Amino acid sequence: MKGIILAGGSATRLYPLSKALSKQMMPVYDKPMIYYPLSTLMLAGIKEVLIISTPRDLPMFEELLGTGEMLGMSFQYQVQEIPNGLAQAFVLGADFLAGDSACLILGDNLFYGQGFTPMLHQAVRRCNAGGASIFGYFVKDPRAYGVVDFDEDGKVLSIEEKPTNPKSHYAVPGLYFYDATVVEKAKSLKPSLRGEYEITDLNKLYLADGKLNVELFGRGFAWLDTGNCDSLLEASNFVATIQNRQGFYVSCIEEIAWRNGWISSEQLKELGMAQSKTAYGQYLIDLIQS
Ligand code: DAU
Repeated sequence: MKGIILAGGSATRLYPLSKALSKQMMPVYDKPMIYYPLSTLMLAGIKEVLIISTPRDLPMFEELLGTGEMLGMSFQYQVQEIPNGLAQAFVLGADFLAGDSACLILGDNLFYGQGFTPMLHQAVRRCNAGGASIFGYFVKDPRAYGVVDFDEDGKVLSIEEKPTNPKSHYAVPGLYFYDATVVEKAKSLKPSLRGEYEITDLNKLYLADGKLNVELFGRGFAWLDTGNCDSLLEASNFVATIQNRQGFYVSCIEEIAWRNGWISSEQLKELGMAQSKTAYGQYLIDLIQS
């Protein structure tokens, strides 16, 4: 399975912050926002990642993340000229995917909680066997999201994009796992009334085939998005609270690469030394002794 991070869009709800800077490059406490979705792909065991962004912002992501070699990974980059929908990621990424299954994560989605890694591994296994896996997360007001509805046995009845009258409280987070038919399905989509190739329409195709699986995140799980100034600040406070209380870093990509066995202790130390003036760099160096 390969991974795609969609990190484009114009983020007008964050103006003037985002007027000259990509939202997904902004700090969430002590790291650029894109570290968080990247860490999710890494926890899923995905080593090959395509980063999609605007012509303006893509070079900055390349500067930040490079080839991926320093993490024992491989990164490729793809421009999205116009932000015309999440499902476009698979059309733009068709050559990169080259017939493989795919995980798409939105560059502004942050996930954190116990038991997350096994859930990711299960989703990878399921999709490699055929079908799609998405997630559901209970929110007070789901109207700004994709919303999924179930029957009493947990069978999916419907999935709707930003419904005025949601049929459930379960929002669909920006993390999607698909089998190898995803490119062909994405190419068959038509733009919605708002002119976008909707990820929800792609999910509907899997639902119609009886191949849409939905896993629910529980109450103790955190799914944050960072679409406006308040949610951006809340995400930073969340990360700071966990890190300062526990001493473990949230979404530390170097640590995950090391724990996955993708880089050696020596390489981790080098990455720490290169940032040793910061608590972040020191954390990496201290990990080796722990
Ligand atoms: O966050 C989860 C939600 O994400 C889902 O529940 C919805 O079903 C899904 O449509 C999406 O809704 P949003 O309203 O959050 O989508 P938005 O247009 O804001 O795009 C999400 C991110 O993806 C945003 O950071 C910008 C980026 N993006 C968006 C589009 C449409 C791109 O990079 N390219 C695009 O073409």
